[in-house]
Amino acid sequence: MSGSTIRRTPGDRLPEFPWDSLTEYRVLAETHAGGVVDLSIGTPVDPVPTPIQQALASVADQGGYPTTHGTAALRESVVGGLARRHGITDLSPSDVLPVIGSKELVAWLPTLLGLGSGDIVAIPELSYPTYEAGARLAGAEVVRLADGQAPPPGTALVWLNSPSNPTGRVLDVAALRAAVGAAREVGAVVASDECYLALGWEAEPRSVLDRDVVSDHTDVLAVHSLSKSANLAGYRAGFVTGDPALVQRLLATRKHAGMMVPRPVQAAMAAAMADDEHLVEQRARYAARRDLLAPALRAAGFAIEHSEAGLYLWATRGEDVWRSVSWFAERGILVAPGSFYGPAGAAHVRVALTGTDERIASAVERLSDSS
Ligand SMILES: Cc1ncc(COP(=O)(O)O)c(C=O)c1O
Repeated sequence: MSGSTIRRTPGDRLPEFPWDSLTEYRVLAETHAGGVVDLSIGTPVDPVPTPIQQALASVADQGGYPTTHGTAALRESVVGGLARRHGITDLSPSDVLPVIGSKELVAWLPTLLGLGSGDIVAIPELSYPTYEAGARLAGAEVVRLADGQAPPPGTALVWLNSPSNPTGRVLDVAALRAAVGAAREVGAVVASDECYLALGWEAEPRSVLDRDVVSDHTDVLAVHSLSKSANLAGYRAGFVTGDPALVQRLLATRKHAGMMVPRPVQAAMAAAMADDEHLVEQRARYAARRDLLAPALRAAGFAIEHSEAGLYLWATRGEDVWRSVSWFAERGILVAPGSFYGPAGAAHVRVALTGTDERIASAVERLSDSS
C-alpha cells in the first residue's frame, strides 16, 4: 500500500475503461486465418492528407510556446471552414478555441464550467462514454435522456451529439431547437458534440449553431474534431466554439491549466479547415466501405437501425450483445458492444467503417460465407 496521504482521486469515480473488456474477443478474433478485422474503434486508417502533413512540418522549427487561443490564422480558417461546409455564418475568430482533440474537452468541460457535486449533466440515452466520464471527474451526477426527453431541474449541462455515436442518428433542426429550448428552460448550458457533422449519408446533419436552430449563441457551444474529417486523430486536433462569453471563460481557465494545442498541430488544423478536397475524398472512402458493409451485415441477419450519418453501423439481431460480439469474433471481426454506450444498447453492436478497403473486403467475404 502507498504510504502517501493520497487516498482518493477523481479516477476512483470512473468505471473500468470499456474497451479493456473486449480483450478476450480480440484474442479470439486474432486467431482467424485471415487476421483480425478491427471495426471496434472509430480510428482513421487512411493517411493524413499530404498538404496537412506539410503544414505540420512547416513550423517544426518554431520552438516557442504556442498560445492557448491558437493562431489568428487557425481561428480564421475554422470560421471560414464552418461557414463553407456547414453554413454557420455568425462566428467571430475570437469565438474559436482549439482543444487537444475533442475527447479532452468532453472529459474536462464539466470541470472547466465549475460543475460539481449537486449538479446534473444530461447525456443522450446511448452515447459516447466520455460524456459520463467527464461528469464523474467533476463529481457531478449523470442522467440519460431518451429521445425528446427534457432535462430535469438542476441540470447544468446538456450534451447533444448529432450525428450520434453510436447510433448514427441525426437530429433535425426542429429536434435541435427543441433540445436547446428545453435546456434553456432549466438554465443549462448546451454542448453539442459535432465531430461527425461532415459525414452525412442519408441525412444532412445540421449544427446547433445554425441560424435556423438558435438566433443567438448564448449558453450554446459546438465541439468539433478533425480526427474523423481529416484523419487527424493522431495529431489530437479539435476546437470548441459558440457563446463568446463562455469561450472566453474556458480560455481563461485553460491558459492556467496548460491546455495548449502544439504549434505544428495548429498549423495542420488551419490547413485542414481551409481545404475541402481531402474531405470529399475521405467521405467517398467511407461511403464506399459503408455500401459494402451494410448489405453484408443485412445478409448475415442483422437489422441496421438509424446509421444515416457518421462512422458506424448500428446493428442488431435481437440477441444479447455479447453473443453477437462473440459471433463476429469467431469470424475474426472485432465490433463494439452497444452496451458500452448505455444500457439501452444491450442488444446492438456498433460496426465502424474504419477498416482499410482490403480489411473491409475481407470482412464482407467472411460475413457472406456465414449467411
Ligand atoms: C462522439 C464523439 N465525440 C468525441 C470523440 C473524440 O474525438 P477526438 O478526441 O479524436 O477529437 C469521439 C471519438 O470517437 C466521438 O465518437
